[in-house]
Amino acid sequence: MPPSRVLTDQDQHELLQSLIEVARKAGEVMQTGSTHMLTASANIAQKASAVDLVTEWDVKTEDLIRTELEKAWPGFGFIGEESYTDETKLTNEPTFCVDPIDGTTNFIHSFPFACVSIGVLYEKQPIIGVVFNPFLNQLYSGRVGHGSFLNETRRLPLYPPRPLTSLSEALVGIEWGSKRTGPAIEAKIASFKALAAQEGKMVHGLRSMGSAALNYCLVASGSLDIYWEIGCWPWDISAGAIIAQEAGGFVSGAPNSPHDGVIDEKLLTGRKYIVVRAVAGSESESSLQCQQRLVKDFLATVVDYEP
Ligand code: IPD
Ligand code: CA
Repeated sequence: MPPSRVLTDQDQHELLQSLIEVARKAGEVMQTGSTHMLTASANIAQKASAVDLVTEWDVKTEDLIRTELEKAWPGFGFIGEESYTDETKLTNEPTFCVDPIDGTTNFIHSFPFACVSIGVLYEKQPIIGVVFNPFLNQLYSGRVGHGSFLNETRRLPLYPPRPLTSLSEALVGIEWGSKRTGPAIEAKIASFKALAAQEGKMVHGLRSMGSAALNYCLVASGSLDIYWEIGCWPWDISAGAIIAQEAGGFVSGAPNSPHDGVIDEKLLTGRKYIVVRAVAGSESESSLQCQQRLVKDFLATVVDYEP
């Protein structure tokens, strides 16, 4: 069914401003929360595993975001990590897709690499994204057709795209995620080895920073060359994916996906994600061809597994 509401250019502009305003307010809640985190009374609960954590501040932050957005944009759908249930359905209607705190483990440990991530999906595709790290005061934003920015003024990527001819030249974002058992952990270890070892691709380095949304923003900035993870959810990546794409990044998914750069429902919900930064093309290869080649080479190097 087509969406009942058409989003005009003006609507999209206003939505982006709303998201920025709400993300900054959410950032204040996170900062307040972080002062409680290292105290004995900090309320930390486990979800799917002992390393899948949630705090009362995740819930408080999502409540604030939801209340503010529902007031400003009544009738929009809302998918949030902390309120998601099996009944939550993605429709073609304009929908907020929210991770109130991405990088909860960092948040708990006062490692200043956590953010609020708010995306707008329209016809099941991200069109606007805002990712705000209040601890470093870094706000990333992107809007389809209008580019991406750091702190609203600095266009991404931060520098003109450099070439990236092979994986061996790459600084790669990876994550351990919260599934640390069975085939998943074996596949992760084998993949990290295949990327890092001399007998493998021997990439320049692997970085595990603990926030999927911020990893996309680092790729958008040009600071990370590639980020790959299996196991995230749409709220981890919706905002980051549009920010990276609007910065010239190439966003893709599972090994058997089309690798056409389209961020559709299948990619969003597929739980397998890869993104390559904007690269300079060469005489023999366009920038898109280079990004697609790197994605294929990367996915042939790592071990695929079901999250
Ligand atoms: C997690 C972080 C982490 C990634 C996990 C995510 P959370 O989100 O983004 O970097 O490895 O897959 O679930 O739990 O901090 O919102
Ligand atoms: Ca979260």
